[in-house]
Formats: sequence, C-alpha cells, structure tokens
Amino acid sequence: MAKAARAQYVCQSCGAVSPRWVGKCAGCGEWNTLVEEVDVAPPGPGGARPSKGRTVSLQNLAEAPAERFERMATGLAELDRVTGGGIVPGSALLIGGEPGIGKSTLLLQVAAAFALSGRRAVYFTGEEAVSQVRLRAERLDLARAPVALASETSLSSILSTLGEGGAPHLVIIDSIQTLWAEEIEAAAGTVSQVRAATQALVRFAKARGAALLLVGHVTKDGQIAGPKVIEHMVDTVLYFEGDRGHAFRILRANKNRFGATDEIGVFEMAAGGLREVANPSELFIGERLASTPGSAVFAGMEGTRPILVELQALVVPSGLGTPRRAVVGWDSNRLAMLLAVLDARCGVSFAQHDVYLNVAGGLRITEPAADLAAAAALLSSISNLALGSHDVYFGEISLSGALRPAGHTMSRLKEARKLGFKRAVMPAAGDVDEAASKLELSRLAHIKGLADGLGL
Ligand code: TYD
Ligand code: MG
Repeated sequence: MAKAARAQYVCQSCGAVSPRWVGKCAGCGEWNTLVEEVDVAPPGPGGARPSKGRTVSLQNLAEAPAERFERMATGLAELDRVTGGGIVPGSALLIGGEPGIGKSTLLLQVAAAFALSGRRAVYFTGEEAVSQVRLRAERLDLARAPVALASETSLSSILSTLGEGGAPHLVIIDSIQTLWAEEIEAAAGTVSQVRAATQALVRFAKARGAALLLVGHVTKDGQIAGPKVIEHMVDTVLYFEGDRGHAFRILRANKNRFGATDEIGVFEMAAGGLREVANPSELFIGERLASTPGSAVFAGMEGTRPILVELQALVVPSGLGTPRRAVVGWDSNRLAMLLAVLDARCGVSFAQHDVYLNVAGGLRITEPAADLAAAAALLSSISNLALGSHDVYFGEISLSGALRPAGHTMSRLKEARKLGFKRAVMPAAGDVDEAASKLELSRLAHIKGLADGLGL
C-alpha cells in the first residue's frame, strides 16, 4: 500500500529534512532556507517499489564482463580533456556555475558540434524562448546546425518528447532548476523537484544510451537548491568558473566516474562565443608588467598540465587597528599561515601592514606549491624591490619555513623554458636534471634564503 503523502520541510541549501519548520537549518546553519515540500514517490516506473524483493544472481568480480564504452568526442577539445576523453553514452553530466558565466553558450556549442557531425542532439531550454537561443546561435555562427530545440519546463512533456523519434545521442536540459513534475507539490527549483527531475532524466539516459547534460545554477549565497543536492545522482560534475570581469572561464571536474578530476579546461569568452585556450600560460602571464615590486610568476600544475600564472601582492602601511588581509584566487587561511611563517622564521612582520594578494586572470589556485611564489610576491612588495622578470617560483613552505619539493618538477620547468623564463627558484630537495631543464636553477632549503636575497 502506498504511504500517504506527508508534509516535511526541506532545506534548500543543503537538502536536510526537518519534520517541522524552523528558522535555522540544523544541517548547515543557514537561516530561512526551509521550505514545505510534500514527500511522494518519484514519478516513473522505478518509483513504485515491489513489496517483496526478488533474488539477484551474484557474479564473481574477476569474471564479470567489463563494459566497453565508446566515448563521444564533444567537438571541444577542452571539454574532452576535462571529461577524460569525451562523454560516455548513457551517462549524466552536471554543469554548475553562476548565472551569466557561459553555461548556455558552452552547451549550445556542444549541441551544435554533435548535430553538425550527424548525431542527434536535443536541447530543452526552460529559461529562454526558442528565438533567444536562435539569436545566440547566430551570434556563435552556428545557426545552421540541425539541433532539435524546444522551450519546455514540464518534466513529463520532456520525457514524452524524448520517447518519440530516434534515440538522441545528446540531451541537454538548461536548466534543471526550471523543470517541474506535476506529481510533486513544490515549486520548480526546490530540492524535491530538482531531485525528481534528475532521477527521471538519468533513468531515461541510462535506458536509451543518451548522454545527458544538465545545467545547474549555483548562487554565491546558496539560497536556491544548488546542484549540490543532485551531485550524487550524476556520473560527472563539472563546474564552470571564472570572474565575470575577466574573459577566462575554467571548466573544472569535481567528480568523474569515467576519468580523473584534476584536469581543467580553459576557455576565453569572446564576441563569437567560447574559444578554447590551448596554451593558458600565455594568457595568465600575458599582461604582466615586468619588474614591478610584488609580482611573482608561479609555475603551477593543473592536473597533468603546467600553467604559469602571475601572483600579485600589495603590502601597504595600515591605518587600521586590525590590518586588512584580502585574497583573490587563493586561500585566505593559507595567506595567514604564510604571513605567520615569514614573521616567525624570517623576522619580516606584516603586523602594521594591509596585505592584498591577487591571482592574475581570475584563476583560482589550490596547489600548496604556490606558497613560494606567494611568499616571493609578499617579500618583494614589502621591500619594494622587483623580482627578476625572468624568474619563476614554486615550492611548498612548511611551518618551520623549510621548502618541500613539489611534484611534476620537469613539466613546470619545461613550461617556464618554453615561455622564455631563464631561472627557476625552487626547493633544494628532490632530484632534478638541471642540464635537461635548460634553466638556471636556484635551489632553496629554507624561505629565509629568499628574504636574505631581498635584503630583509
Ligand atoms: P550564458 O551562456 O547565457 O550564461 P549562463 O547560461 O551561464 O547564464 O552567457 C553569459 C554571458 O556571455 C552573457 O552575459 C554574454 C556573454 N557572451 C559573450 O560574451 N559572447 C557570446 O558569444 C555569447 C553567446 C555570450
Ligand atoms: Mg543560461
């Protein structure tokens, strides 16, 4: 017997369920995020559970047949790189990002590439009229691509439409937050609606072997049911990031059942849509003014790809009781740690100074190897001495001030050499073939060596 529908309160930020309304979510601590939703079984054949389970045959792992899947190239090399070599048929992929970052543009380009190569691509938009999508396609010079397009938000209509005609290779839903299932008494975009729609669409994709691309908006304050609540239901989660003031857009894999998650794809938003950037280093250090105090070039890695990026620090005397620390593109806790190490181990105090640290180009760095470049930029700014304009820096700094070796040393050095750098300042530990690197290597055991070099 089906259980009667029961009201419950679901946090729109984290998905926690509460039997009664409360102002503050017990799950995530956010205020006013609980919304009443009626708990019903999700629509579709899988929703109704059989009363008695059947026996399944167990297989020996060693003898179980491995599924061989043909990945579908998307037509965008950067997207292929992030997904691990193309999209797998029957898989579901979520693309999250802030509104206006370029998700619809990216997916329209993918749909057009599929359609132009003779594969069936179906694009459902719940946010725009067909004419608006057409306008964008014209802007992208893709208006002649035979993409099947509809403006629709009803989940059942979308499923019926997909059930007819030839099996699609690619289904795009822009966005999952606009869909609504009639069976569920909650507004579109709520956790229950987003979950039900995802579940039904994923089931369709698996059954028909279509690749499903879902767009999910994330807002900075997380008020709207973010893609977070459906991350576990899809195979791959990609985040489209970037600063709207910059043209760079970075596609980062957050979860990937079919590949690694440490690759990034780099795009540039131009007048004619998203352009792939095959050599990101040139962009991230392109606008650098040589010999400015506070500027250091970090030889970083994103996945298997080396990326050179400029770190900029500005250290100025503070008029405030508690000096300011502002960071863009790096972890503020990491900056606090670095300032403490520079104070304790090198005797360079920032206590009377405001400190600003910026990663150029809107890139976000998570690698610990950026420590040395950040320290170099900070020391250069406080001493008002410019660092060598042909130097790159990398290495992790421990709390003792000692430098720890970073991985992928040779890739970093080769990239630096390729872009015309002459010297690498790096940890003393670890084996490196200096002759093969064709760079002058300045090996440091302790961060003190760097401060001494600047006369601090
Ligand atoms: P859009 O793909 O609509 O973002 P999202 O779907 O993530 O909300 O595009 C966002 C911005 O991109 C829009 O403000 C205008 C800009 N843009 C370009 O600069 N060039 C282009 O060719 C296109 C299509 C958009
Ligand atoms: Mg959009």
